[in-house]
Amino acid sequence: MAIVNTNAVKVHQPECLDDFALQQNSRYKLESILDQTLPFPANGVCGIVLYGLYGTGKTTIANLLPGLIDTSKADPNAANLQPSSIRDTQEPFVDYHPCAQGQNGAQLTQQINNRTQLISLNASGYHFVVMDEVDNLTEAAQAGFKAIMGKHHVIFIMTTNNLDKIDAGIQNRSVLIDMNVPPPAYWRPILSRVYTDANLTPPTNAVLDQVVVAGRGSARSIFSDVVMGANQAKRSGQTAVAKIANIRS
Ligand SMILES: Nc1ncnc2c1ncn2[C@@H]1O[C@H](COP(=O)(O)OP(=O)(O)OP(=O)(O)O)[C@@H](O)[C@H]1O
Ligand SMILES: [Mg+2]
Repeated sequence: MAIVNTNAVKVHQPECLDDFALQQNSRYKLESILDQTLPFPANGVCGIVLYGLYGTGKTTIANLLPGLIDTSKADPNAANLQPSSIRDTQEPFVDYHPCAQGQNGAQLTQQINNRTQLISLNASGYHFVVMDEVDNLTEAAQAGFKAIMGKHHVIFIMTTNNLDKIDAGIQNRSVLIDMNVPPPAYWRPILSRVYTDANLTPPTNAVLDQVVVAGRGSARSIFSDVVMGANQAKRSGQTAVAKIANIRS
């Protein structure tokens, strides 16, 4: 069988909030940070916790947010944009921590404490700390970590599959963003773009919605299904996609 290299369908890598399907309330909170409706960090709130099921885009957004927030604060052009279309134009000062085993105890908290003593020398003056899978931190580390939240120039961005394993004090200092499946209709423009970028006519909304429901909002499953269907159509010389198979059913 011929392999579709040249025509292989690609997913556009997300660059701004518009590239994500988000629950309305989650979008509202993130946009409020970017357009300064919500002063942040301020009033003791300096964290963002992205929580939800596997593959819903938490790590992807967590890695993008330092650039988006930094741009909203340091790039004067950002004020003329819709917050959902702001793209990173800065070089934010970011430390990434996967919080994996072996790097999840009080030592990590101490390391973050030391690092955040440094003053960021870039335009915004903010220092970002991204902590992926933050529920892996031990209880003692979470308690210590809570105590270092509150430096005025530091913004903490965290992800977790298990919000209930996050220290209540950390939650209280954070904006909580539910990344679980939004209404399937919110995915339609993002999925349609995969087809139109590949010069294919997208399937009906009902078919797209069914893919989102079958994938339970997991971008991993949804994009895999969509790309597989689009590649099949390309390979067989079709210009439209009528149905999509699901990799998990
Ligand atoms: N809006 C998007 N557009 C394109 N690709 C996306 C989007 N959101 C997520 N992805 C892709 O989907 C995959 C899963 O996303 P990600 O790793 O961010 O999920 P997660 O919520 O962190 O999952 P886990 O809970 O398993 O850690 C990644 O390959 C990512 O690049
Ligand atoms: Mg992740």
